[in-house]
Amino acid sequence: MKTKILVTGALGQIGSELVPALRARYGADQVVASDIRMMSREELLRTEGPFDFLDCTNQRQIQDVVQRNQICTIYHLVALLSAIGESKPQVAWDVNMGSLYRVLEVARINNCSVFVPSSIGAFGPGTPQDHTPQDTLQRPTTMYGVTKVAGELLCDYYHQRFGVDTRGVRYPGIISHGAPPGGGTTDYAVEMFYEAIRHRHYTCFLKPNSRLDMMYMPDAIKAAIDVMEAAPARLVHRNAFNVTGMNFTPEELAAEIRKHVPNFVIDYKVDPTRQAIADSWPHSLDDGAARQEWGWDPHFDLAAMVRDMLENLERKLSAQEVHDAPNAR
Ligand code: SER
Repeated sequence: MKTKILVTGALGQIGSELVPALRARYGADQVVASDIRMMSREELLRTEGPFDFLDCTNQRQIQDVVQRNQICTIYHLVALLSAIGESKPQVAWDVNMGSLYRVLEVARINNCSVFVPSSIGAFGPGTPQDHTPQDTLQRPTTMYGVTKVAGELLCDYYHQRFGVDTRGVRYPGIISHGAPPGGGTTDYAVEMFYEAIRHRHYTCFLKPNSRLDMMYMPDAIKAAIDVMEAAPARLVHRNAFNVTGMNFTPEELAAEIRKHVPNFVIDYKVDPTRQAIADSWPHSLDDGAARQEWGWDPHFDLAAMVRDMLENLERKLSAQEVHDAPNAR
């Protein structure tokens, strides 16, 4: 992959883990992190490389950061997720499409490669829900999904029309113990881990049998790096490769957590908006094209993910407790 790299939305769920992974691989000074939020003191202390404030709906600001840092590859992670997108559809359009269009324009002008994540949200009712094919019907019913399909098409257009090296994957729900996700439908899975450790009890906003594709963060990071490093000649598709690590329902995840936390209890209070979103998405993606065209091969299944998540989250939460204790030094 061409360095230097710019990551937008770097303080979000994916960005906060992608940036250190890219820095470990290509060198700390080769990766510029950026976000519309300024870093907290803790984040500043932890960070190892350059950080820029960046509002991705402002093309002049993107151009300035790209030019000043001689950026060659942009990981564009800025986006509002599905549930928050339904509560603020106009903002979701402005942020998701406004930022993507401007990033692609800057990439065209400066000859940058671009990674853009799409999502299972790019599918909708009418899409085959089991073994959802790579190329299939995409008529999503959420603003998030509309922006994801439009984004996939816009990235294809910039590649075909202007030769911009655009690439991307369709992420399923991403589970991680680092920065929390925000405003997504698949976020129940992350919440369940926090509540299982803190309270041994979780009230789930989806029905017990809502099956969705999921992925553990280390595999999500691997997908983002591998697709950008793939030999272009092998790519038949470019943007929006189906990728998945596993699929499960809330009750299956709870059962797996209970193997480690025996007194964990789950109950359900369904949120109709998020349930309708989940019902419109695939149960299981066919990721054959990614496997064939760039060797996609996830490491974590449900059992391995749950084991690793609980271990890491327990460590993180007990460290926080020590830190937050009133007389902690
Ligand atoms: N995790 C996302 C959401 O739930 C889907 O890509 O909105």
